[in-house]
Amino acid sequence: VKTFLKIYEQQNELKGIKDLLSKEIKIRKEAQDNLEIKIAERTKELVLKNEELEMKNHELQQFSWVVSHDLNEPIRKIQIFIKIIKELYLADDAKAVDYVDRTIKSAERMQTLITDLLAYSRLSSQVKPEMTDLNVVLQEVLSDFDYLIERKNATVKTSELPTIDSIPSQLRQVFQNLIGNALKFSGNSEHPLIEITSELISNKAFNSPVSPDGKFCRIIVKDNGIGFDEIYLDRIFIIFQSLNDRQSYEGTGIGLAIAKKIIEKHNGLITAKSQIGKGASFIIVLPLKYE
Ligand SMILES: Nc1ncnc2c1ncn2[C@@H]1O[C@H](COP(=O)(O)OP(=O)(O)O)[C@@H](O)[C@H]1O
Ligand SMILES: [Mg+2]
Repeated sequence: VKTFLKIYEQQNELKGIKDLLSKEIKIRKEAQDNLEIKIAERTKELVLKNEELEMKNHELQQFSWVVSHDLNEPIRKIQIFIKIIKELYLADDAKAVDYVDRTIKSAERMQTLITDLLAYSRLSSQVKPEMTDLNVVLQEVLSDFDYLIERKNATVKTSELPTIDSIPSQLRQVFQNLIGNALKFSGNSEHPLIEITSELISNKAFNSPVSPDGKFCRIIVKDNGIGFDEIYLDRIFIIFQSLNDRQSYEGTGIGLAIAKKIIEKHNGLITAKSQIGKGASFIIVLPLKYE
């Protein structure tokens, strides 16, 4: 009887535990169900928000395109007429000529700003990549700069660049910005030197080892100009940001933002290395195949 009683007690105890466990399981399951419902709700919310964001983004691009496009026309007129006024009516008035010259300069600055903004907002439109011989792209850019290169007494050394699957007009913009900067920020150097080198590398990383059959290339645009402090590295790739005063170095601060946007669209990387007074190197990593 004693043993029976014990077994009975034990059974009861077990039943208690079992009940407790099923209760616990039920609670957990409910919690999990709730959680899943919540996750589903949140995901739906996120998807909606994302769509909304994409639409806003598109609108914004449209807006900046229209604004910069429409601003171009009046500013061109201002430039033309003010030049006419200067030449026809102000020839003997030095003070008036000075004011008009400053107006012309401001209008020119505005024009570059608008052109750059236009280029920036155009980046989001879809274009098809094609096999692009970067040597050709680079030569085109260099020939656009040949006057400035000569005036600055600069030497440009180029090495063999690869042919990659990319959007040529966009990579032209990247080279234009980087080489334009290298020339602009050459400082008082008597012999500005710009070197463009390229090598194939095995993976998408700035410090990837060189590899003759690598699927990426690393292109470096190096100058011996004024350089900059690397603590500001992030800043220079942000639109409208400049580390130098606009009096000494004209510009809009859009060039590197455009370059970064383009390189990222090509699924690549861009960074820079520099020290004040010791030149700057801009390093680009690009996949040979666009995807
Ligand atoms: N090669 C360079 N050497 C030194 N500083 C540079 C160089 N390239 C860019 N920078 C710095 O980064 C800033 C942003 O460059 P960018 O976007 O091209 O604008 P912008 O040329 O209109 O000033 C420049 O104003 C300058 O301070
Ligand atoms: Mg620039």
